[in-house]
Amino acid sequence: MTETIVELKNITKRFPGIVANDDITLDIKKGEIFALLGENGAGKSTLMSILFGMYEPDEGQIFVRGEEVHLTSSKDATALSIGMVHQHFKLVSNYTITENIVLGDEPLKRLGPLSWVDLKGASEKIRSLSLEYGLEVNPDDKIEDLPVSTQQRVEILKMLYRDAEILIFDEPTSVLTPQEIEYLLEIMEELRRGGKTIILITHKLEEIKQVADRCAILLHGKLVGVYDVATTTTQRMANLMVGKELDFSLDKTEHDFGEVVLDVSDLTVYNEQKVKVVDNVSLKVRQGEILAIAGVSGNGQVDIADAIAGLQNISAGSISFKGEDISRLTIKERITKGISYIPEDRQKEGLIMDLTLRDNLAIKTFDREPFSKKGILHPEAFEQQAEDLISRYDIRSGQGGQTLTRSMSGGNQQKAIIAREVELDSDLLIFVQPTRGLDVGAIANIHQQILEQRDLGKAVLLVSLELDEVMALADTISVAFRGQILKTDSVHNLSKEEVGQYMMGVTQ
Ligand SMILES: Nc1ncnc2c1ncn2[C@@H]1O[C@H](COP(=O)(O)OP(=O)(O)O)[C@@H](O)[C@H]1O
Ligand SMILES: [Mg+2]
Repeated sequence: MTETIVELKNITKRFPGIVANDDITLDIKKGEIFALLGENGAGKSTLMSILFGMYEPDEGQIFVRGEEVHLTSSKDATALSIGMVHQHFKLVSNYTITENIVLGDEPLKRLGPLSWVDLKGASEKIRSLSLEYGLEVNPDDKIEDLPVSTQQRVEILKMLYRDAEILIFDEPTSVLTPQEIEYLLEIMEELRRGGKTIILITHKLEEIKQVADRCAILLHGKLVGVYDVATTTTQRMANLMVGKELDFSLDKTEHDFGEVVLDVSDLTVYNEQKVKVVDNVSLKVRQGEILAIAGVSGNGQVDIADAIAGLQNISAGSISFKGEDISRLTIKERITKGISYIPEDRQKEGLIMDLTLRDNLAIKTFDREPFSKKGILHPEAFEQQAEDLISRYDIRSGQGGQTLTRSMSGGNQQKAIIAREVELDSDLLIFVQPTRGLDVGAIANIHQQILEQRDLGKAVLLVSLELDEVMALADTISVAFRGQILKTDSVHNLSKEEVGQYMMGVTQ
């Protein structure tokens, strides 16, 4: 008989061409951790943005503490003690923590006709809140000097400073290491003990299992149901989330590795700002081996991949491919030698968004036979290849090869890049964040493809921020930290926690 604090009744929200929330009815109880689960695009952020006053629903009603409310801005939500930490933080980087927290709600001190912002008083309140909930920060630090996990704590303090009672977290753990996630989940439990109500948006089932009381599952804008977390297995939640039975188990068989395909030795790279981003890195990848570089974003791992593919100049060291130094070759020459590259940013680097799917699939081979003979292009060859790849790689698009790439979903764009790169039949495949932002179905498909390449004897270099992905796919793990490789070992000798430690620069 816990009391209901928020009630959403028949909420519908339409955007051009899509019903983001379709007749959703939910109630949230005071003092619970309520999870909102669903694939990308299921409508989670939209629903919570409505509760936070950022969108007005087209239909439906919202009740807070039993009374119907009409929220027209986040100010209205704040007045009702509702706070939200967004997926992308909204902090001003050259302001201090205190300045950010009071922004828009500056505490004024008055003396006669004079008034000024009382930053000192604000700092004290922040210090005491941070002590109360274990949110360690120094109020005078500047945001730009802080790691992401601390910035997130600032966002939490910002809500608490405004006396929020209902705290919404939108995918808060997607930017954190395992240890930081653990810490955040503890903070959430601490907040619950302090009587706060928490709404946690996530697509990570383990986190829900760990802290949430109940869990609402959204699928294509509709509510599938609300479930008691303690009595629902993660497999069941996953199936409900995608609307079908899914087999997530990866079929990874052990085998011996062949010859060394890629041999990077003492590699050093400076970026355009003359900052050393790769610092004396050595690594080897053999036939049939997946070497995964784990690390928190921005520790040089993408620069290593870029240097191997030829997108980045090196200042010292060597890159040897099948025994030949390729470090001075052009990008194109490296492709011809047999290096496939699936870049981090599929829309900027992987595909030309305004070309058709058909042309994107042929982008690296259009000047070879059968696509081009004696300088003349043969469209029927493009057509045939597109048909073939679309069916073999299950690329879904409205009008087959003629579909404009821009109009395809992220998952299908990624499948197209992977199809193109795998078809090059290269000896080395470099995957950088291959499943970023994709839904679970597309992720499972791509993981399967990567393992297939490994089993065919290809050398695979995987750069991923998702530790679960690294643990599931890698044969060997190298952990990047501040441009260096801190540790390299077989996946069998490393636990997820150990890798997490190295990711934070802890070496013992
Ligand atoms: N401001 C907007 N304009 C148009 N479409 C939007 C907007 N915000 C979200 N959408 C669409 O609504 C759907 C639900 O999005 P969202 O709530 O962000 O999903 P989730 O948070 O579950 O990933 C998606 O198809 C998305 O593209
Ligand atoms: Mg979202």
